[in-house]
Amino acid sequence: MIGEKKSLFSGMQATGNLTLGNYLGALRNWVTLNEEYECFYCVVDEHSITIRQDPAVLRKRARALLTLYIAAGLDPEKNCIYYQSHVSAHAELAWILNCFTYMGELNRMTQFKDKAAKHADNINAGLFTYPVLMAADILLFQADVVPVGIDQMQHLEITRDIAQRFNGIYGDVFTIPEVYLGKVGAKIMSLQDPTKKMSKSDENANASIYLMDDPDTVMRKCKRAVTDSEAQILYRDEQPGVKNLLDIYCACTGKTADEAVKEFDGKGYGELKMAVGESVVAVLKPLQDEVARLEKDKAYIDNIIKTNAERANYVATKTLRKVQKKVGFPERIR
Ligand code: TRP
Repeated sequence: MIGEKKSLFSGMQATGNLTLGNYLGALRNWVTLNEEYECFYCVVDEHSITIRQDPAVLRKRARALLTLYIAAGLDPEKNCIYYQSHVSAHAELAWILNCFTYMGELNRMTQFKDKAAKHADNINAGLFTYPVLMAADILLFQADVVPVGIDQMQHLEITRDIAQRFNGIYGDVFTIPEVYLGKVGAKIMSLQDPTKKMSKSDENANASIYLMDDPDTVMRKCKRAVTDSEAQILYRDEQPGVKNLLDIYCACTGKTADEAVKEFDGKGYGELKMAVGESVVAVLKPLQDEVARLEKDKAYIDNIIKTNAERANYVATKTLRKVQKKVGFPERIR
């Protein structure tokens, strides 16, 4: 709780390109959350270097992500959108929390096991303590709710465990965060395997529509989407490919599944795919135009980066000072 409102924290990595699934399923629905919550959206560049990065690429992508959030409608006056590395309290609290986290707990993290297997030549200590930095992110802002996908649930659980352990020793220091279960958007599946979620890390580029895909690319990917041989456009689980296309169409047009099924009655898959592609372009084009406009306005974005980091820094430092005092660090002389 910060001030009057409950607080919401979300961290996002600037590695990989956001997909239509990220947008329709999450980002787009966050625009109005600031009415109910004090919202913090952090570009977690410190987490990104647990995997080796090209510095220039990381810097560019971090800025692109921050710009995209604003282009998507998150008002930077009402939401705090900032870089993790600009607020040193993240790293400082992470150190303290490291001392309240057990090796055994971290050893159970499935994401660590997956990433360690994938990057066997660079199993660094940061990769191992990644969840502790994530706990620090969340707890610094006394977040009541954290919107995360299923893949991050284990990290949210360990965050709660660490917070409860700390509170058990020192009293009520941290808010215990819950997963955000508010209005969730459409769940968009892969265009190539509609039983799998559309993912930014899919190796098959045709499986995902990226937010920055140009119209031709969007149309091509939609045309190549996997369907079935039933030759009928119905909204049902037995036809996951067609169902996914209808979900995308509905999410982009605001129509209901019933309306869409009526509209495509008697039509072929080719027509459906064209219509889906066009509906996606109609959503992405204004977003891309807004990104392009903002990218040109360097001073405006720079100012947001500065002022939002200041605000994040203020809130985070307040929690950090409390924690430092609790664990016995000497008081600052002012
Ligand atoms: N680990 C998250 C991911 O890869 C990103 C993240 C970092 C995060 N810190 C966070 C998400 C805090 C929510 C809250 O998706």
